[in-house]
Amino acid sequence: MSAQPRLVIAIDGPSGTGKSTIARWIAQELNLSYLDTGANYRAATLWCMKNGLDLAQPDSVDTQQITDLITTMPLAQDLNPHNFSLALDGQDITEAIRSDEVTANVSVLSTRREVREHLVELQRQAIQSRPRIVVEGRDITTVVAPDAEARILLTASPEVRMARRGQQLRETQQDPGNVESDVVGRDAKDSALVDFMTPAEGVAEIDSSNLSLEDTVTVVLAEIQRQVNTSGS
Ligand code: DC
Repeated sequence: MSAQPRLVIAIDGPSGTGKSTIARWIAQELNLSYLDTGANYRAATLWCMKNGLDLAQPDSVDTQQITDLITTMPLAQDLNPHNFSLALDGQDITEAIRSDEVTANVSVLSTRREVREHLVELQRQAIQSRPRIVVEGRDITTVVAPDAEARILLTASPEVRMARRGQQLRETQQDPGNVESDVVGRDAKDSALVDFMTPAEGVAEIDSSNLSLEDTVTVVLAEIQRQVNTSGS
């Protein structure tokens, strides 16, 4: 039996667009692996915190200290979209990486170029080992996998993104009080090194502001089909 052809689907966008849910849904629908690169940044943040770096005082933390720790990070990921999970040193961290503390600290890592280079390398290795995969994040269409078979930027208005994130926080019994800093503030910080608000050349922008989750999935699937057909013809 011949191996199936490579199919990398790259989905970028700011927080609160429903990107993770949609990317995972599409991976399940198309029977592909699934990589949430935001979860990588979160896992690395948690690993630094566990190793005593005070990320609440970013000026006290050397970039070298962070990259040294990431190089030895014992991260294991299950890329099955039905069971996407992460473990550090054998301990499941799938929920721990969603804590307010990790969310507040993650930009300390994502705004340092050398740290990004390490994580991008890790992500490229994951794609190489599973070349039929949906990968979502902020720089997948531009840096991690600019050669992906399909590339999409998922956007939504700031009002819609804050409303969706607030709803998500309430559903998981987290404090929706800092939704503005979580969504708009974090995006502003994260935009320092990566532009995930405007589509790069060849990347299709899909604005989900007025679409339900189901309708967004339908539109994204049609766009993937279109790009794959176009590149194959
Ligand atoms: O998507 P998320 O909220 O789980 O992402 C967590 C953080 O990681 C976010 O603040 C931005 C950063 N990130 C990034 O800089 N590049 C990526 N490819 C993915 C996430």
